[in-house]
Amino acid sequence: MDNTYFLSSKRIGLRTLTRDDMPVYQGFLNNKDVTKYLEMGWRPYTEKDLEVTYQEANNASSALVFAVCDIKTNKLIGTAGLYFLHWPGRRAQYRILLGKPEIYGKGFGSEVTNLIIKHGFERLNLNTIYLGVNAENKGAIRSYEKCGFVHEGVQRAFIYNDGRYYDCVNMSILAND
Ligand SMILES: CC(C)(COP(=O)(O)OP(=O)(O)OC[C@H]1O[C@@H](n2cnc3c(N)ncnc32)[C@H](O)[C@@H]1OP(=O)(O)O)[C@@H](O)C(=O)NCCC(=O)NCCS
Repeated sequence: MDNTYFLSSKRIGLRTLTRDDMPVYQGFLNNKDVTKYLEMGWRPYTEKDLEVTYQEANNASSALVFAVCDIKTNKLIGTAGLYFLHWPGRRAQYRILLGKPEIYGKGFGSEVTNLIIKHGFERLNLNTIYLGVNAENKGAIRSYEKCGFVHEGVQRAFIYNDGRYYDCVNMSILAND
């Protein structure tokens, strides 16, 4: 049995994020087509930032972050995971970043999200998984809706990127959903 991946589906493998992944991840973050709806990308991502990201991803008590790989090539295509794990409240924040714009809109994001929310509810026994997304990031919102996230509300003019503010849509999915 191949143990490369901790979780996998038809096209996606999720494994631990390693230090060797970080230069590739840095390339994702320095691509404006990737960060266009995010608050990241306003300055170059440094070695120190990469170390902080790596440490954060591997702090088991507060986050569960995966390297997202294309199962055919075993190449890193992004990261995704659960952050701010709050054990008494049984909730966590979901974040995903696919670093290759040419694969957007082909269902990869939803495949990753489905794997992680299933793991979050079934293995971590979470009750709530929530997220915030730029209101103009229509592909992301659609992808979350397909996975069962519902709209909760809007934080007005909350996200700043490239000279203007964007509303932030808050979404969540509950274990009972
Ligand atoms: C957000 C992200 C993970 C989505 O992944 P993805 O693989 O593109 O998502 P999916 O293909 O599973 O779903 C996207 C859906 O939105 C649709 N879509 C794409 N662009 C759209 C648009 N402008 N308007 C409406 N729907 C759109 C797609 O057609 C697809 O729906 P369908 O399957 O019903 O046809 C990916 O785009 C990404 O990582 N972006 C960069 C980082 C980012 O923005 N992260 C989110 C932070 S909250």
